[in-house]
Amino acid sequence: MSMTAKPEAQSFDVRPLSPLMAAEVVGLDLRRPLDTATRDAVYDAFLEYQVLVFREQTLGKEEQIAFTEQFGTLEEHMARNRGAEIALLHVVSNLGPDGKPAGKIGSTGWHSDKSFRPLPSLATFLHAVTMPPNGGDTCFANMYAAYEALPAAEKAALEGVRVVHSWEHSRLHKDGYKVPEEDRIAAPPMSHPLARTHPETGRKSLFLGGHASHLDGMSFDEGRAKVIALEEFATAERFTYRHKWRKGDMLMWDNRCLVHRADQNFDAALFPRVLHRTCLRGTAPA
Ligand SMILES: [Fe+2]
Repeated sequence: MSMTAKPEAQSFDVRPLSPLMAAEVVGLDLRRPLDTATRDAVYDAFLEYQVLVFREQTLGKEEQIAFTEQFGTLEEHMARNRGAEIALLHVVSNLGPDGKPAGKIGSTGWHSDKSFRPLPSLATFLHAVTMPPNGGDTCFANMYAAYEALPAAEKAALEGVRVVHSWEHSRLHKDGYKVPEEDRIAAPPMSHPLARTHPETGRKSLFLGGHASHLDGMSFDEGRAKVIALEEFATAERFTYRHKWRKGDMLMWDNRCLVHRADQNFDAALFPRVLHRTCLRGTAPA
């Protein structure tokens, strides 16, 4: 067979995992390149369900990068994966320098990946490499559903309101970590529409999460209080889906209409939890 042969069409099934969002995509081996029709059909399912779950995948790092690139432009990790050989793939892990579980996992607060960027992330791909026997779930809250559940007067009041997303704020707020000057310059606070319109579905959602600090054009305290109240409303149980990982799962989710968080519902001092993450760059929120 020639190396330039077109990939064969692949068929797959889509099985919803909850009434609100998330679906399993069954029948694809992600190591194989997708033909255009299959790629487009996967992307349509992604827009419809916001979280796609591909079971029993065995992709290496380069294979995950190749799979991700079929859907857009890869984004580098903020912390630049210091010391890692592949900057475009971030290893999410609870292992310490000695290679043993260090007792803590990161990203346990609600957030939308890279929301502090001028062009925040479009999608995140997360591949379960080593998982604890139970727990270590990832939870999603649907910001379409939260926006749609707001009273009409509240929706009207949000028109034109901008929210400041800041890497510096979320690091400081979360774990008291003061970001170095170079990171502050590389990722200055960024103002985005609070009610953003999805560039592909046209649906509106709330653009919130841990990087969201306060509202533009309002006193910090007042704007901060508003952000906290909205986030509490928007992440209520009824807007969420909890993903219970199986080894080999590849998740692909839409950061433009979801927030997510990791749940440390396992013994992180005993069990390793290692995932491979790639991200696609999005467009300026509007
Ligand atoms: Fe994340």
